[in-house]
Amino acid sequence: MKTMKLLGILTAASSVMSGCYVKHKDPYYVYAPDMHYSVALKAQEEGAMRPIPAGAISRESRPYEIVSMEEAIRNPNPVARTKDALNHGRELFNVYCIVCHGQYGEGDGTVTSMPNWPRPLYPRPPSLQSEKIRDYKDGQIFHIISMGQNTMPSYAEKLNPEERWQVVHYIRALYRSKHPTAEDLKKAEGMAEENI
Ligand code: HEC
Repeated sequence: MKTMKLLGILTAASSVMSGCYVKHKDPYYVYAPDMHYSVALKAQEEGAMRPIPAGAISRESRPYEIVSMEEAIRNPNPVARTKDALNHGRELFNVYCIVCHGQYGEGDGTVTSMPNWPRPLYPRPPSLQSEKIRDYKDGQIFHIISMGQNTMPSYAEKLNPEERWQVVHYIRALYRSKHPTAEDLKKAEGMAEENI
C-alpha cells in the first residue's frame, strides 16, 4: 500500500514537473510568463547594458581636476601618515603596482622579466628607489598615479584620492626601508639589543 501511495505521488509530481520541460509552441498555461517569453539579450548585444545616464559619475569618484604638474607639486599630502594609512597603502601597492614596479619599487615586477618568455611583457619601469623620486614632492607622485605617465596607465579609476595618497606614503616607506636614516639605524640597533 505504501509503495502504491509513493508511486502515486511520484506520478503526480512528474506530470506536474514535466510541464516545465515539454516544449509547447503555445502552452495552455504559462507558469512564469516573464521567464517563458524572456526578452533576455546576450551580454554583447546592443541594449544589453543599461546605458549610464549622461553626466553620471560613481558616488565614490572625485574627478581629478589638476592637470598641470606645476599645480600638482603644490598639493601637500592631506592624509595623515598613520600606521593604518601605511598598511592600506602597502595593500594597494601590492595589488596595483607591484606587478610592474616590484616589491621594493625597484622596477623588477614580474611582468618585466618573465622566465622562458621571449621578451618582457612590459618595459621595465624606472626604480622608485631613485633620488629623483626621493626628491619629488608627494603631490608629484600623486599626480603620476592619477594621470599616468607615458606607458604607465592612470590609476584614478581604481584608487580614490585618499588611497592614492596612502600609496604615496607607502612609496616613501619603501624608500626608507632601503635607505634608512641614521636615526632609523640607531632605533634598529636598540631593537636588536633588546632582542638579545
Ligand atoms: C603596467 C605596469 C605599471 C603599473 C601596474 C604601474 N606602473 Fe608606475 N610606471 C610604469 C612605467 C613603465 C613607468 C615609466 C613611465 C615613463 O616612461 O615615464 C612608471 C612610472 C612610475 C612613476 C614615475 C617614476 C619616474 O622615475 O618617473 C611612479 C611614481 C609610478 N610609476 C608609480 C606607480 C604606482 C604608485 C603604481 C600603482 C598604483 C604604478 N606605478 C603602477 C609601469 C607601471
